[in-house]
Amino acid sequence: MEEAKKAAGYKAVDDHVRSGMVVGLGTGSTAYYAVERVGQKLKSGELKDLVCIPTSEKTKKQALDLGIPLCTLNEKSKLDVAIDGADAVDPKLCLIKGGGGALLREKMVEVVSDKFVVIVDSSKLCKGLGPSFPLPVEITPFCHLHTMNVVASLAEVEGCKPVLRTGDCSNNKPDGEEPAVTDNGNYIVDLHFSKEIADATKAAQAIKKIVGVVDHGIFEGMAYQCIVAFPDGSCRVAG
Ligand code: A5P
Repeated sequence: MEEAKKAAGYKAVDDHVRSGMVVGLGTGSTAYYAVERVGQKLKSGELKDLVCIPTSEKTKKQALDLGIPLCTLNEKSKLDVAIDGADAVDPKLCLIKGGGGALLREKMVEVVSDKFVVIVDSSKLCKGLGPSFPLPVEITPFCHLHTMNVVASLAEVEGCKPVLRTGDCSNNKPDGEEPAVTDNGNYIVDLHFSKEIADATKAAQAIKKIVGVVDHGIFEGMAYQCIVAFPDGSCRVAG
C-alpha cells in the first residue's frame, strides 16, 4: 500500500496547496508523503511563501528537515487547508483518527482549516465506525484508570473493551509496560468495538463531556474531501 499512500499524499498537495497559503501538516505514514511533496515543491520553487502548522512533534521534525517554514496556531489561527490521514472513514466522511497518537493537535488544526483534505489508502474505508479500528481517547494522566472506566461505562459505547495504550504512542497496539505519552503529556485509551458504534455523534458528545477526557478520535463533519488511493496507484475523490 506504500505506493497508494504516496499517490494520495502527492495528489492532495498538487490539488489543494497553492503559494501563499497557511497549510496544516498531518501525522502518520500517509501524511508523511504530503509533507514530502510540500518540501519538494518549495525546494523547486513551484510553491512560494507557504507557512505550515505541524500536528505533532514527529511531523514538525520532518518538516524542519525539509526546510518547510513553520508557525503555530498562536500566530495563524485560520488555515487555508490541512492534509491528514485517517484510521477509518465511513461513507459520510466521518473519521476515526489518533492511531498515531496525535488526535488532539490534529483536531485543533483541522477544525480551523477552510478545507480539511483526508488522504487514505482503500483499506481505511468502512461501512460504519468501530470494528475496523479502535477509537482512541486522550485522557489526563491523573487517575487515568478511573477516567478510563468512566468512559467505558457510558451507554453510548456499550460493549467496547478499553485498552490503555502502552509503549510507543504512535502504535495503537499495546507493546510495553508503561503508558504511552502523547505530545501533550497525556495518555490514550483505545476503545475496541466488536460491532459498529450505534451512534457515533452521541458517543462523541458523551465521551467529550467526561471530566478527565481531553478529546477523542471521532472527527465528524470536518472532512472537505477524502482522496482514496488504491494498490495500483489510482486515486478516487470522495466528498
Ligand atoms: C495520527 O494520530 C493519526 O490520526 C493518523 O492520521 C492516522 O493514524 C493515519 O495514519 P496512517 O496514515 O499512518 O495510517
